[in-house]
Amino acid sequence: MVNIKTKEEIELMKHSGHINYLCHKLLEKNLRPGITTKELEDIAKKFMEENDCTSSTIGYEGYPGYLCISVNDEVVHGIPGKRKLKNGDIVSLDISIKYKGYHSDSAATYAVGTVSEKKKGLMEHTKEALYEGIKQVKEGATLGDIGHAIEQCAHKYHLGVVRELCGHGVGTELHEDPNVFNYGKPHTGMVLKAGMTIAIEPMLNLGTREVCMLDDDWTIVTLDGKPSAHFEHTVLVTKDGYEILTGE
Ligand code: MF3
Ligand code: CO
Repeated sequence: MVNIKTKEEIELMKHSGHINYLCHKLLEKNLRPGITTKELEDIAKKFMEENDCTSSTIGYEGYPGYLCISVNDEVVHGIPGKRKLKNGDIVSLDISIKYKGYHSDSAATYAVGTVSEKKKGLMEHTKEALYEGIKQVKEGATLGDIGHAIEQCAHKYHLGVVRELCGHGVGTELHEDPNVFNYGKPHTGMVLKAGMTIAIEPMLNLGTREVCMLDDDWTIVTLDGKPSAHFEHTVLVTKDGYEILTGE
């Protein structure tokens, strides 16, 4: 069932999204070679607590982190730990938080120090694919329109589109209906209505689209070991477009 949010709910979603955005900014400032992913998690945890928010991921189906941190060939759901970031790494921070019962979800991939041109392109183009998807959003558009736009953009840059994971509705639950796929056909699938809040989140790979899971039962990595990037925003559908709830 797809939830249409009331005005009051949208206000709470906006606040949740804003704190999520600020958490991204704070972590970005702290990214540097030598910092561990656990140290980044501690910073995020403290920030969430100071802002009356809780992590949506800790304990989610047993997930052990306050956020997901995925490095290089890790696509999503990397678990914070002792790993030290190195110059040249790219790191995806996927932050999901709850404020007064309302979740927001946002991911971005950042460079640590100086990264290769290939990695830079991957990050830029994955972000571009997210925005191509977002641009489709308005009442009357379809989920297929979003997926198609993302896929087209990825193909333009010869990037692999991960198909095992997708975006989703977001609200009183972190994952609500509908599924928001990163591929599709225009004018097909569910029709969007004003008041829906959805997380759009392309995961694009420099190589093959194929992925597999590590022994920790969480971390998804690319099958060929090439880098992957992930960008995600929580977006409100409006009558004539959209509002990004996890943006500036
Ligand atoms: N933030 C992830 C998403 O974008 C959710 C991860 S669930 C977890 O949907 F348990 F792995 F954290
Ligand atoms: Co999400």
